[in-house]
Amino acid sequence: MINPALCTEEEIAAFVRAFYTRVRNDELIGPIFNAHVHDWEHHFVLLTDFWSSVLRGSGRYSGTPMQKHTALEELKPEFFERWLKLFRQTLDEQPNEAMRERATAAAERIAQSLWYGWQMDKYPDRMPTDLPPAA
Ligand code: HEM
Repeated sequence: MINPALCTEEEIAAFVRAFYTRVRNDELIGPIFNAHVHDWEHHFVLLTDFWSSVLRGSGRYSGTPMQKHTALEELKPEFFERWLKLFRQTLDEQPNEAMRERATAAAERIAQSLWYGWQMDKYPDRMPTDLPPAA
């Protein structure tokens, strides 16, 4: 449920910065991000707006994430699993429990939908597969 009282903008900004710092240093998915993200400060602000819209309903984000991800040549379930693992690890350090729960649930749903969308874009004649359940 979208709820402006769930967390503060500062909590989201701190979380996003910590998360993408992990991501860009990750040996598996870091290289993908480093190949596409040329301005990390801009990415932090963009993704803070995204999570602010998802969690607080601020409406600050108005991008097209599906197109950004279908534009990536190679995606696979292992990449999403790693992304989600780093996301959960970073959230575990956040004191706001309600935010942790909402953000985890939203990330899992969005990851699944991006994976479906990517498969439908690359292999429209195949039945898309699910991501494996969270470890
Ligand atoms: C396999 C996992 C993932 C990879 C490798 C990945 C990779 C990327 C990359 C490289 C960009 C920058 C694209 C560009 O600027 O050209 C990006 C942007 C973005 N990603 Fe992901 N991503 C993943 C999963 C996710 C998930 C699960 C979410 C949401 C829960 C997400 C949300 C976004 C958003 C909102 C943007 C900004 C799109 C825009 O420019 O408006 N990503 N991602």
